[in-house]
Order: sequence, then C-alpha cells, then structure tokens
Amino acid sequence: MRSDIEQVLLTEEQIAVRVRELGKEISRDYAGKDLVLVGILRGAVVFLADLYRQISIPAGMDFVAISSYGKEALSSGVVRILKDLDEVVESRHVLLVEDIVDSGLTLQYLMDNVASLRVCTLLDKPSRRQVPVELDYVGFQVPDEFLVGYGLDYSQRYRNLPYIAVLKRDIYGGHS
Ligand code: IMP
Ligand code: MG
Repeated sequence: MRSDIEQVLLTEEQIAVRVRELGKEISRDYAGKDLVLVGILRGAVVFLADLYRQISIPAGMDFVAISSYGKEALSSGVVRILKDLDEVVESRHVLLVEDIVDSGLTLQYLMDNVASLRVCTLLDKPSRRQVPVELDYVGFQVPDEFLVGYGLDYSQRYRNLPYIAVLKRDIYGGHS
C-alpha cells in the first residue's frame, strides 16, 4: 500500500461487485426507456465507464462539468456549470452519475436546472449533508473521511487508484 494512504475502504473487487449489481438494477428499471447517463466531470468518469458497461439496455452517455470554488463557495451554494450537456435530453430519461455525494449542494443545483432525472452515486457520505437530496441508486454509504481513488481526487491526484481509500490526514490537513 502507498505511504500516503491511511486505509483501503473499498477494494477493487468490492467495487466491481457493487457496480455489476447497480448495472443490473438500472437495466431492469429502465428497460424499454430511452436512457442517458450523465456523468459529473471529473470524478464520476471512472465509475461511469464501468457502470456503462454493466448496463445491458441501449443507453447514451454525456457529461457536465461544474465549478467548485473551494469548499466555502460550495457551501454557500455557488455552483456554476462549466460544460453543459452536448446531447438533447428532452423526453429522455436522465440518470445523473456521481462519484460521491457529500453536502448535496452540487446535486441540488443540477436537479433544479435539469428536467426529470434520477441519481446514481457510487458513494454517499450522509453525515455531511447540508441540503436534503434524493438518491435513487447508492453503491456504498461511507464514513466522514476524505476518500481518494476510483475517480476521487485530492488536488487532481489519486484518481487512478483501482480501490477507494482514506487519505492520510497529514496529506490534506485534516479537513474534508
Ligand atoms: P457536494 O456538493 O458537497 O455533495 O460535493 C460532492 C463533490 O465533492 C464530489 O463530486 C467530489 O468531487 C467532492 N468530494 C466530496 N467528498 C469527497 C472525498 O471524500 N474525496 C474526494 N472528493 C470528494
Ligand atoms: Mg465530483
């Protein structure tokens, strides 16, 4: 294990099993519907790529990018769309794909600005919620730790770890 990782929280194997389950569930729920997965850049890319291949019905994919002006700005609800959808999603069924839901502010912003949709997040950190958001598919509930790997970053690093791990506190200064 790397020296900057405190502890592995979810192994590559555990993630793969859960992503397969989520893919099956989503395929059943959206059978016969025109589904498009919308990933939130950049954290959701790794999860979406795996989830997409576990979905057995026809489905499109698109991405949105959102600015996060640091945590202070985020908690004041200042979230800005940097990249909008390329696909036309009117009359389609949109499934937002997120790596982790923390305060819920990012999701709340998107839900207010996009038409009817559901949400699939790999990780849910419910203890940190600042606004109520409804999650339709959750891979794992996780504790209030700063997590990296499988798309999750700290300063744009660690996204390529195949597992999800708790970062050592002295690396990020002890606040998430
Ligand atoms: P929210 O708007 O507070 O729900 O923030 C969600 C976003 O914050 C996620 O999409 C991640 O990009 C980031 N985030 C929240 N918790 C963590 C974490 O533990 N590790 C890495 N990124 C995180
Ligand atoms: Mg994100």
